[in-house]
Amino acid sequence: MENFSEPADWTFPIPIHYGPGRIADLPEIAKRNGMTKPLIVTDRGSENLPFVGELLDRLNAAGLHTSLFAGFSPNPLDHEAEAGKIAFVSGQHDGVIALGGGSGMDGGKAVALLAGCDVPVAEIDYQLPVPKAEHFPPLICVPTTAGTGAETESTAMITDTDRGIKICIAHPDLHPCATILDPGLTIGLPASLTAWTGVDAMVHAIEAYSVPDFHPLCDGAALEALRLIGGALKTAHAEPENINARGAMLVGSCLAGISFIKGLGLVHSISHMVGAVYNTHHGLTNAVMLPPVLRYNEPSLGKKAGEMAHALGYADESFAGLYAGIVETLDSLSIPTGLADLGVEESEVASLAEKAMGDSATDTNPRPISLPEMKDLIRSGLRDNR
Ligand SMILES: [Fe+2]
Repeated sequence: MENFSEPADWTFPIPIHYGPGRIADLPEIAKRNGMTKPLIVTDRGSENLPFVGELLDRLNAAGLHTSLFAGFSPNPLDHEAEAGKIAFVSGQHDGVIALGGGSGMDGGKAVALLAGCDVPVAEIDYQLPVPKAEHFPPLICVPTTAGTGAETESTAMITDTDRGIKICIAHPDLHPCATILDPGLTIGLPASLTAWTGVDAMVHAIEAYSVPDFHPLCDGAALEALRLIGGALKTAHAEPENINARGAMLVGSCLAGISFIKGLGLVHSISHMVGAVYNTHHGLTNAVMLPPVLRYNEPSLGKKAGEMAHALGYADESFAGLYAGIVETLDSLSIPTGLADLGVEESEVASLAEKAMGDSATDTNPRPISLPEMKDLIRSGLRDNR
């Protein structure tokens, strides 16, 4: 594997500053992008991490009058985003630093979106007509897990609490002005979160590559993501301080995030609704649903199954080889074998299926699905699903 201990700067698709220790560059990058009073947005779980306090001190020492909003749940809620916007406006902030795993970054992006669009969260649903935007604040994304991969674009998954569903919010005029990929920030991640977020990144690349659209740019990113993740996930899990494995995972996750501009699939549409109802961890929910969705999609994958197996480094480049390799990986990461282990009840299957049918990721799944098939698929994911 390549050497991931050296810094590098890339400009595709936005300015990306990679390298161990690059978080030290945040004050200068914030200033360069016009921030004088940024708001750091993160999740409640990250609020008391020592490096968050150190980051605040470092930004303030550099003359940036920085505050912290840490009001987001693991599955960010619409009213939390509204509260974040109030904090942004009342504090007269002029930039957002979205910091954290999926929830912290989605929360930060939601605050930036609301700061530029004076409408309720539900009206920024990317499936609705684009709302009028005034002026978006500059947005810097700093992932602290190698999983979400959404640090290069503005989409955020937010729970619409009235409807009990997750919606994808975004605006075509908001793009992060920079992202910092510092693998050092992921060193302290517990083994379970390393596994769950890492599988989320792998699922992003698998689902994006499986979308039937012609999109060589995303497909190239997806296969390279799978190569990096396939080579580093188990090592990052087993050797948490291995900076090379952490770096490969962080870059792989970012590439996987770029690839899913193309779309996602049924793992995500089901996982979004399970997360909205049961508040389960997104990456863990994806990991549990990956085997049954792969089996459902097998007839539509064609040669892509073998190409993904090859990218992941599996010797058997067939669907059976891909499936066996993934199951072995999930087993080695102690991923449970059913949604029931996450608290999902049989009685909720029909409702979850109806909600998942409306998720945008269902539209890009390689194999179409009917409502009865969606119910069967979720039911098949409840127990002993490998
Ligand atoms: Fe995801």
